[in-house]
Amino acid sequence: MALLLVLVRALIVVVAAAVVSSSGLPVPGYDGLAIGFYHETCPQAEELVLAEMREIVREDKTLAPALLRFMLHDCFVRGCDASIMLKSRKMMAERDALLSCSLRGYEQIERIKAKLEEACPMTVSCADIIVMAARDAVFLSNGPRYQVETGRRDGKVSCDIDAYNDLPPPGSNIVDLKIYFSVKNLGWKDLVVLSGSHTIGRAQCASFAGDRLYNYSGEGKQDPSLNTTYAPELRKACVPGDPFDETYVEMDPGSPYTFDLSYYRDVYSKRGLFLSDQALLDDRWTREYVERMASADSTEEYFRDYSKAMTNMGRIEVLTGDNGEIRKVCGAYVD
Ligand code: HEM
Ligand SMILES: *[C@@H]1O[C@H](CO)[C@@H](O)[C@H](O)[C@H]1NC(C)=O
Ligand SMILES: *[C@@H]1O[C@H](CO)[C@@H](O)[C@H](O)[C@H]1NC(C)=O
Repeated sequence: MALLLVLVRALIVVVAAAVVSSSGLPVPGYDGLAIGFYHETCPQAEELVLAEMREIVREDKTLAPALLRFMLHDCFVRGCDASIMLKSRKMMAERDALLSCSLRGYEQIERIKAKLEEACPMTVSCADIIVMAARDAVFLSNGPRYQVETGRRDGKVSCDIDAYNDLPPPGSNIVDLKIYFSVKNLGWKDLVVLSGSHTIGRAQCASFAGDRLYNYSGEGKQDPSLNTTYAPELRKACVPGDPFDETYVEMDPGSPYTFDLSYYRDVYSKRGLFLSDQALLDDRWTREYVERMASADSTEEYFRDYSKAMTNMGRIEVLTGDNGEIRKVCGAYVD
């Protein structure tokens, strides 16, 4: 009897999901989130975000990768709750952490929020805007366009210490990377799939020159695993002995603004930029995935995996229902 009930219930959920998605009504998702959460309260929300993102990326293409990275920095630190946007006069907030010093996108999230406030006041959370902007950044870089769950609410706390604890540094090895991800409920597959985000964008020499070029393992030498035809190019770009070198280097030099599989070909041929990229070859499962994607002739499987992994990242420690708040301004002061 109980089994029958479970089966019937499962059937209802499946049927309901099918009916609802084709009619555009919200599809219930994880822990109070739903695909199309704003269907009734702000039906044009997703369209408005995409329109604004198109404009933002047209004005400055480097903002597409920046806004993709923005979601990582929000979600990994205190969950996807827009706490990265908060400011403090008395303490160091997340955005003041050294690890986030090159993070860009604050004004753009605020700009999108202003559009949404015009259309539907006090309705769409900043946390959802960050997730939608990242989705559109991928799409506008020729990546997949996947459906996002929405319904997150905004947190009220932001502390730099959380950023230091929860964001994986670029010098991380595979063991540490798996731990950073697993405490956020993400597995090895999310790790290897989401690392592929480094197929777009750039990094400052400060983020890798010590680890890879000049002081590998604190031994004052070059990382012996770094591709020897690639290394001289990087050494030309980054001056030795400057731990704060802000010079930018493209992470996937062949196609830095196209979301494709070349990240995996880079890593496979030892041209990954960070130790954390190269570390994906040090675990059997992540290595097999890198190898498969490096030789894949279609992006189909990767795009499917990416959509799933981004959905997983968007579920980290979310505030839903009556938790958190909806703010008028994302970058509000907490004190
Ligand atoms: C696996 C652990 C990861 C590490 C250690 C890492 C580290 C970094 C670092 C150090 C930078 C360059 C910052 C700079 O020098 O300006 C960067 C850039 C970037 N990261 Fe990651 N990241 C990781 C995972 C991810 C994930 C999961 C995403 C997905 C959202 C992501 C998306 C990006 C993007 C798009 C950029 C380029 C930003 C730009 O061009 O402005 N990263 N990452
Ligand atoms: C290299 O790293 C070691 C250990 O972290 C440090 O003591 C040393 O000062 C570094 N050398 C340079 C040139 O940065
Ligand atoms: C280094 O990169 C080149 C492409 O620039 C590639 O042909 C070569 O196989 C790579 N070396 C290694 C060890 O993967």
